[in-house]
Amino acid sequence: MNLERLIPLDQLLNGQLKRVEHEGARILLCRVDDEVHAVDDMCTHEDISLSLGVLCEHRLRCPLHGSEFDVRDGKVLNEPADVDLATYPIAISEEWVCLVKG
Ligand code: FES
Repeated sequence: MNLERLIPLDQLLNGQLKRVEHEGARILLCRVDDEVHAVDDMCTHEDISLSLGVLCEHRLRCPLHGSEFDVRDGKVLNEPADVDLATYPIAISEEWVCLVKG
């Protein structure tokens, strides 16, 4: 299992969203208590960065039309979006948020 460091864990507070770029992908990191989840940063309804949205527990709300997604699996919870977000596997290692590859 390959781990690629993204950001130090202490730069992502509980309830916070942070967009990172990795190999051309814009990934949104979402911290919920001691867990970090990662989804595509772009809303699937229209092109807007979900980093401008609001995270409430596991629900991520788009700032434009209010679609909600579950950051654990990317599933749409509320329309108007009807396409799930892609997700990325994340691990915490040595106090870093890391992308799991391979
Ligand atoms: S752009 Fe996100 S819900 Fe419309």
